[in-house]
Amino acid sequence: MRILSGIQPTGELHIGNYLGAAKHWAELQKEDECLFMIADLHALTTSQNPETFSATTFQKTVELLAAGIDPAKSVLFIQSHVREHTELAWLLNTLTPIGELERMTQYKDKAKKHKENSNAGLFSYPVLMTADILLYKSEGVPVGEDQTQHLELTRLLAKKFNTLYGNTFPEPKTLLVSSGARIMSLQNPEKKMSKSDTPDSCIGLFEEAEHIKRKVMKATTDTEKDIRYNLAKKPGISNLLTIYSLLAGVPIKTLEKKFKGKGYASFKTSLAGILEETVAPFRKKKKELETRELYVQEILKQGETKAHSIASSTMNEVRKKIGLLVF
Ligand code: AMP
Ligand code: TRP
Repeated sequence: MRILSGIQPTGELHIGNYLGAAKHWAELQKEDECLFMIADLHALTTSQNPETFSATTFQKTVELLAAGIDPAKSVLFIQSHVREHTELAWLLNTLTPIGELERMTQYKDKAKKHKENSNAGLFSYPVLMTADILLYKSEGVPVGEDQTQHLELTRLLAKKFNTLYGNTFPEPKTLLVSSGARIMSLQNPEKKMSKSDTPDSCIGLFEEAEHIKRKVMKATTDTEKDIRYNLAKKPGISNLLTIYSLLAGVPIKTLEKKFKGKGYASFKTSLAGILEETVAPFRKKKKELETRELYVQEILKQGETKAHSIASSTMNEVRKKIGLLVF
């Protein structure tokens, strides 16, 4: 199966991104043909500093490599390096009913949040995402829950294109991770963990041990003392149990037994230990890659070449099918 996924370059990877995305990418690349893209054009829908934006994009490449994306197995590239993304996005815009975009929850949220910069890019964001996916005739797209509505549009547009112009695109499947799809904020377990939230609510994938420990010990729990999974009544501890279980590869039931009668402090100390064990190798790899700029550049150049060869062949087919004048 051909897989494509993308991540925006802004903000350092956190354990929500890891458990909801990067960890699965690293698994998928063992079996499937994978393309992973840094969505720099998507990031421009909110304002970016031109002085630092390219460094941010480069840094995200380093982070993904450190988190386990293997350039020998996967194609890793930058969205803006393959110009066909914007070309296909335009063509797909002409097939997209405005109503479909108006009902997108991410658009509604972001338009509210960025009132002063509620631009047309924010509105047609899911169309560019569809272009990212269809350009490679991708069959599976691993994403967190927040992106599932965008993928419904992708399937709708694939179907519409195929009906109008002949069979061209597979209708890609959403590869949703059932747990880990939504890791919640440590400070407010009703909200998704997010890099734009307060620092204490989010654990970075490359954080130092003492910061991790402090954040975990401060994480919101509830007044009862037992370590029990109950999303409705104990959302804080349930989130921590989910994180622990996914990182250690141990079922939540087993953790409940292990920590029966032990209290939050003992559970949190153990969780901080597991987190440190997980992130220590990532931190080391990231530091190493930061000294090898040319090596990382080379990976991106090769990624671009491979991605471009697929993208240009799809676009030749699309241009002909649509009836653009092609010599
Ligand atoms: P973003 O950081 O919003 O660009 O998202 C990058 C990837 O990480 C997407 O596949 C998201 O669905 C996923 N993701 C972001 N935040 C979380 C979270 N708190 N829990 C699980 N997955 C997440
Ligand atoms: N919109 C996605 C996000 O914010 C990132 C993204 C861009 C993406 N293009 C994609 C994800 C294509 C999957 C496939 O998380």
